[in-house]
Amino acid sequence: MEFIDLPQMIAADGSIRLPGSKSISNRALLLAALSAGTTEVRGLLASDDTARMLEALKVLGVDVVETGTGHWRVHGCGGRFPNRRAELFLGNAGTAFRSLTAALALAEGEYVLKGVARMHERPIGDLVDALRTCGADIEYLEKEGYPPLRLKPVRSRSRIRPARIRPDVVRIRGDVSSQFLTGLLMALPLTGAETVVEVEGELISRPYVEITLDLMARFGVHVACRGWQSFTIAGTSYVSPGILHVEGDASSASYFLALGAIGATADKPLRVEGVGRDSIQGDVGFADALAQMGARIEMGPDWIQASAPSGKLRGITLDCNAIPDAAMTLAIVALFAQGETRLDNIASWRVKETDRIAAMARELGKLGVRVEEGADWLRIIPPGAAHSLHAAIIDTYDDHRMAMCFSLAAFGVPLRINDPGCTAKTFPGYFEHFIRLARPAPVIAIDGPTASGKGTVSARVARALGFHYLDSGALYRLTALAARDAGIDWEDEAAVAEIAARLEVEFSEAETRLGGKAVGAAMREEAIAAGASKVAALPAVRNALLFRQRAFHRAPGLVGDGRDMGSVVFPQATLKVFLTASAEVRAERRYRQLLAAGREADLAVILADLETRDARDRQRALAPLRQEKDALLLDTDTLDIEAATRRVLEWYEQRLRPQ
Ligand code: DC
Repeated sequence: MEFIDLPQMIAADGSIRLPGSKSISNRALLLAALSAGTTEVRGLLASDDTARMLEALKVLGVDVVETGTGHWRVHGCGGRFPNRRAELFLGNAGTAFRSLTAALALAEGEYVLKGVARMHERPIGDLVDALRTCGADIEYLEKEGYPPLRLKPVRSRSRIRPARIRPDVVRIRGDVSSQFLTGLLMALPLTGAETVVEVEGELISRPYVEITLDLMARFGVHVACRGWQSFTIAGTSYVSPGILHVEGDASSASYFLALGAIGATADKPLRVEGVGRDSIQGDVGFADALAQMGARIEMGPDWIQASAPSGKLRGITLDCNAIPDAAMTLAIVALFAQGETRLDNIASWRVKETDRIAAMARELGKLGVRVEEGADWLRIIPPGAAHSLHAAIIDTYDDHRMAMCFSLAAFGVPLRINDPGCTAKTFPGYFEHFIRLARPAPVIAIDGPTASGKGTVSARVARALGFHYLDSGALYRLTALAARDAGIDWEDEAAVAEIAARLEVEFSEAETRLGGKAVGAAMREEAIAAGASKVAALPAVRNALLFRQRAFHRAPGLVGDGRDMGSVVFPQATLKVFLTASAEVRAERRYRQLLAAGREADLAVILADLETRDARDRQRALAPLRQEKDALLLDTDTLDIEAATRRVLEWYEQRLRPQ
């Protein structure tokens, strides 16, 4: 899927069982592979990053099989991978790349490790330097300090025993990525001797190192840690714990907790299952950050619930060192808070799937949010009211977290999110869950042929309900008008689509403005109506206008009128109406309208014209005019405007009543 369009959301509730933790899944797989014995890993995350790790282990000759959904049996190789020569492709999976680099650098084979282009821009020099002091032979295949890498066998196994290591302590920088320390810690037991690791500089993302130590201990290797600066790794080998349960992913939980904090009420909170008080993942700390912002949070051993405060959320200043991934979600929650939010100590964002500080600042800017960024911080100044955000097309930079975070901005404004499939890196199916749990603003879709009275009825229904009103035909008319003004032929699909994409329209009660100028009656000319029907048959033009129409789908609700409101633009509409009348009645109405306006008119010509346009609208390949199966038929041959309006309002009331 190229993109997903999200309408403005107005509420959220329900519960979700979280997919398995990525951090635990990939560590558990590697440790199970390195240990003696067979491990049954239960609740493994099914995602791109774990698929890369599973593939790599298979290429290395490890026997891994899925025995049931999410249950994997790993036959450990006792520290010696069966295949001594292999080339591994690890995509953009940082957890897999760093930990396999360390484990394979201390193994006895020759390995090449590669990833996608972005992986080759993510630094790994600090880990390589540390591994070299252990005697590892590592070559950079492209750029010094970055993947891809060639790992050669450690020449003499005894060289990596601590007694021979000079200096006899391994030093590693802790302030770029904690995954370097994690990789090193998990690999060092392969040396078979007690080793000491010292961290240079501040250790960032400490909770991830805690996950590493916890899992190593479950596989029988204990690490004594002093002040998170010095780690002594026992000289024992990994032994399978038998069965290992992977808890739910706490970073993935952040999106749903935020959903609750923004859109759920106290009596119907949003509940995540699979992480809670007993979690070993630092990202559960995100719930505390939400609580600081004023959200209502409740927590059990393996569940968390969130709902919105009775008043507004508050902006906060937070050191995000311990929750770097979940902190991205705070940047979006900030849009719904009173006062600014400042996220500090997030330098690691710059070396993740994308430069997340830059990406976040750029995309928030598209929504009209004021953002300031520094080397390791981000400041978000929300607009006074969330509804003053601009509808926008959000790019995701092949970064799953960008896509998931920005879905929450739909509580302020309709959005198009490009490449939503990138969420498969850690959470396939994310958007299905989001759509299941978030409730969009209601839409009434009213379709029908020209001169059926649907415009007047729609505008009245919108006024009665206090909803926004979209006259989609106006967009096609304005496109035809702008094309004519620019001297572009109505048949020239590419050129007209260009015009449609860049159309500068402002609709207001009083007038419609095109390119800053009032349009006046020009839009209603018969020639322009004929042009509109022509340009509306061009697929590229319809595509160019699609998101522009969906951008009207805002709170508290929308009434849209046109030809394809219920079929294409708002297929999930709360109520779909097909409003029509016979050609004769419609021609008669148009005839009387023209006479009343003091214009000359010929009933026969009007009828013929109307039938030609009807035929074109009905026969075109894309979005033809027709009554959808789930649309209610409103024949206005014998109904006046008031009666038709009342009927639509009654149908809408019925839809809202619980079944
Ligand atoms: O509703 P109207 O008469 O203003 O529409 C003008 C033309 O635009 C009409 O010929 C059909 C086309 N149109 C469309 O194809 N799809 C819509 N949703 C609205 C209008």
